[in-house]
Amino acid sequence: MKLIVENDYEGLSKRASQILIKEIQKDPEIVLGLPTGSTPLGLYRKLIESYQRGEIDFTHVKTFNLDEYVGLEKYDPRSYNHYMNTMLFNHINMKPENIHIPNGKATNLESYCEEYNEDIERAGGIDVQVLGIGTEGHIGFNEPDDELNVGTSVIKLAPSTINDNAKYFKSTGEVPERAITMGLGSILKAKKIILLANGESKIEVIDRLLNRNVVTTQLPASFLLLHPDVTIIIDEEVYEGCR
Ligand code: F6R
Repeated sequence: MKLIVENDYEGLSKRASQILIKEIQKDPEIVLGLPTGSTPLGLYRKLIESYQRGEIDFTHVKTFNLDEYVGLEKYDPRSYNHYMNTMLFNHINMKPENIHIPNGKATNLESYCEEYNEDIERAGGIDVQVLGIGTEGHIGFNEPDDELNVGTSVIKLAPSTINDNAKYFKSTGEVPERAITMGLGSILKAKKIILLANGESKIEVIDRLLNRNVVTTQLPASFLLLHPDVTIIIDEEVYEGCR
């Protein structure tokens, strides 16, 4: 596992974008795994800027998003589909058919999850997976539990996640209770993984991840410790907080 410490969020976003830009330039047909949330916003801004400068081309890039709330229409401003379009896809030249975001309104969720898995496999798996991390250690929406799912599945969101994400809804009660998430298996099969964490709220979880050195389903991100190519980029605040 490689740990990179940057001064601040701006530095973290820049560093992550430099890695991704290089990977996209190296392989224009790259398959990217992407998160939503507040953490990757700076990275997405920098990818858009790089695209506008003509440094990267998304014509043949494929993307798979990690997760989506069950029950939200894709044009719902709180959906991850809407987030991805407004924060990234509307500003770059991705082909719509190359964008994959779980459909929270699928009628048969179980078979839909199977299809999402098959789509990932058909694309040859994820080349570079970008991750944020939840305050309780989830990656995607794989929440701490006695068992973790290998493939894409429907999960019940942890109370901590509902609380953390309530800021995007009118009230905590409006946050959907379930979500579709790529499983730990699909994430860990990615050739390269980049996890980003910044700010005070991530100190405790990154401390558990880096300093305990154990793998447990109670800290889903700990499975990353078993992967041969993981880069964790944190800011100085997280670094100082977990020394
Ligand atoms: C979102 C996702 C989640 C977030 C995590 C951190 O697609 O997969 O695991 O990365 O909840 O969220 P932020 O970045 O908002 O702190």
